[in-house]
Amino acid sequence: MGELDGRTALVTGGSRGIGRAVALRLAGEGALVAVHYGGNEAAATETVRLITEAGGRAFAVGALFGGSGAVDLLFEGLATGLKDHGAEGLDILVNNAGVHSIGSIGQLTEEEFARVLAINVSTPVFVVQRALSLLRDGGRIVNIGSAATRIANPVQIGYTVSKAALAALGPSLANELGRRGITVNTVEPGVVQTDLIGDYATVPEAVAALESITALGRMGQPEDVADVVGFLAGPQGRWVTGQTIDASGGTYLGPLIPE
Ligand SMILES: NC(=O)c1ccc[n+]([C@@H]2O[C@H](COP(=O)([O-])OP(=O)(O)OC[C@H]3O[C@@H](n4cnc5c(N)ncnc54)[C@H](OP(=O)(O)O)[C@@H]3O)[C@@H](O)[C@H]2O)c1
Repeated sequence: MGELDGRTALVTGGSRGIGRAVALRLAGEGALVAVHYGGNEAAATETVRLITEAGGRAFAVGALFGGSGAVDLLFEGLATGLKDHGAEGLDILVNNAGVHSIGSIGQLTEEEFARVLAINVSTPVFVVQRALSLLRDGGRIVNIGSAATRIANPVQIGYTVSKAALAALGPSLANELGRRGITVNTVEPGVVQTDLIGDYATVPEAVAALESITALGRMGQPEDVADVVGFLAGPQGRWVTGQTIDASGGTYLGPLIPE
């Protein structure tokens, strides 16, 4: 018996990277998982295949965030998928889908900022709004932010601001939903080896520099973050709400003692 048997979960951006690891983690505990994707249907199908091959239950739902009608499309796909699997309602919502944005304040354009805010902030806000009528009492909302909100990096200013806005959603929502036993938290990863970081992981100097400012001494893997989300989404996370949790292996905590 898994601790999420009988539960349903929606993982946005579950097709790849951190979202795939989260989807696998939740399905591994018994949840029926809606694996959302934007444009990469093949990747979502692969996540579903990995889950079903391991004995879990999942289905893919496509909706390209940032354009009009995306949230409607997401919830139509969710409703169909749940019905096909003889399920209804939602227990766990993981707002994970997101995009990176490189550029200093001088380089940031209005178009790029609008794009990042639409995908990283507006969409999760309205996904939550739409999910509220489906979410059962005792449910969970986990938003994936970024440790970038804590570590000053001038060359990703639009991204940083978007993730700070997403984290700001947590406490207010937690207060509103707490009486229903629904928890709301934000998980902030540091650098994680996924497609989002491009070829960063293939540049030894960049990896060495990251390791040198990370207490646990290595780059993050999607599963490192998925386990934190899994804890918050499961019964053991019931007493944590309104919090922003750093999951960066202790990146940039302060000076390390030289070896
Ligand atoms: N990797 C890191 O170092 C890192 C660090 C801190 C925070 N994060 C955050 O963690 C989350 C997941 O990142 P990741 O590294 O796993 O990224 P990733 O490997 O690039 O995957 C991104 C996921 O988001 C979906 N997505 C992207 N744009 C979308 C859009 N416009 N509409 C709908 N879906 C869209 C993608 O769907 P498709 O497969 O269909 O394209 C994919 O499933 C993001 O919110 C990111 O900001 C990542």
